[in-house]
Amino acid sequence: MALISTEWNGTEYFPIHDFHHVEYFAGNAKQAVHYYRSAFGFEPYAYCGPETGVREKVSYVLKKNHQFFVFTTPLSSDHPGSDWLKKHGDGIYDIAFSVECDKTAFDSCLSRGAEGIQEPIVQKDDNGEYGKSSIKTYGDTIHSFIYDSNYSGLWAPGFAALNLPDITCPDTALITIDHVVGNVETGKMDEWQEFYERIFGFTTFVRFDETDISTQYSSLKSIVVRSKNWKVKLPINEPAKGIKKSQIEEYLDFNEGAGVQHLAILTGDIIKSITALRTNGVDFLDVPDTYYDDLEKRVGPIDEDMAVLKKLKILVDRDEEGYLLQLFTKPLEDRPTLFIEIIQRKGSRGFGQGNFQALFESIEREQELRGNL
Ligand code: FE2
Repeated sequence: MALISTEWNGTEYFPIHDFHHVEYFAGNAKQAVHYYRSAFGFEPYAYCGPETGVREKVSYVLKKNHQFFVFTTPLSSDHPGSDWLKKHGDGIYDIAFSVECDKTAFDSCLSRGAEGIQEPIVQKDDNGEYGKSSIKTYGDTIHSFIYDSNYSGLWAPGFAALNLPDITCPDTALITIDHVVGNVETGKMDEWQEFYERIFGFTTFVRFDETDISTQYSSLKSIVVRSKNWKVKLPINEPAKGIKKSQIEEYLDFNEGAGVQHLAILTGDIIKSITALRTNGVDFLDVPDTYYDDLEKRVGPIDEDMAVLKKLKILVDRDEEGYLLQLFTKPLEDRPTLFIEIIQRKGSRGFGQGNFQALFESIEREQELRGNL
């Protein structure tokens, strides 16, 4: 792995505050919502659909501390979301950013060559004004720019409170979105790096290739771009040549193109989080017991009890700035596409590259079971 720089080398063309939310297209949002509530501890927040005067789709907004996940199901085959779902299956189609002005962001991006998806629209109601615009990124994924600092309503105009029966589950302590990772086609990673640098003024701060990470069977190349304030971090992977099929290649086959591979959620207490998530039935990638044999030698002294980490199968990685703890779910859908990472940072701003070897071996066992290796 090469940590290129922690200094800011980009150009902040327009201020991006943070991730605002991610929006999924789901075949059945009602049931997906139940899963994200009971498994990941999200809470009902807002809703739009026929009951609120929206005819063509339903959208459920779930909240957990500082993060919002939106689940949208089109109500007819005419809705563009139906084509999206037919091609990709359930997944994340919008990585939305909170910005100072959705129009400035949109115009700024288009002036440097971005493709617009939705022109800036300001909606007004009794709660103030709400602005949104969107541009295209890799695959059929978009970035929306949300301006809602002068909107005091629940979520956006047209949404009402989402009231659902209580679910009792232990607190997962998940705080906020840490990073969102895209898989792109072979040979396209550099183009997308250039896209984020040119369109957003992001800077690339991590880069590695098949000489850094590989197993006998599969390998990947990766870069990470980030916003000036470090809140938005977007790793981008492409497959590299291996003896057998790369996990990125498997994703691209089943997603039928580029798209969001995983979303990482930050926790301040990963032991509490993974204990709760496992209690809730979340299926995590298996980690071989041998991973823990020489862990202390690899990462040095850490605050957590190694026996507890081994029991919960939590991974640890260290770099020059500190260490991090992380664990990855298995794919959340029947297509082996989107998964979630749980991450706790203790000084490290990396992504756990030291764990890739152990992780790949684990992923490949799963791939082999599916007959895709
Ligand atoms: Fe990650």
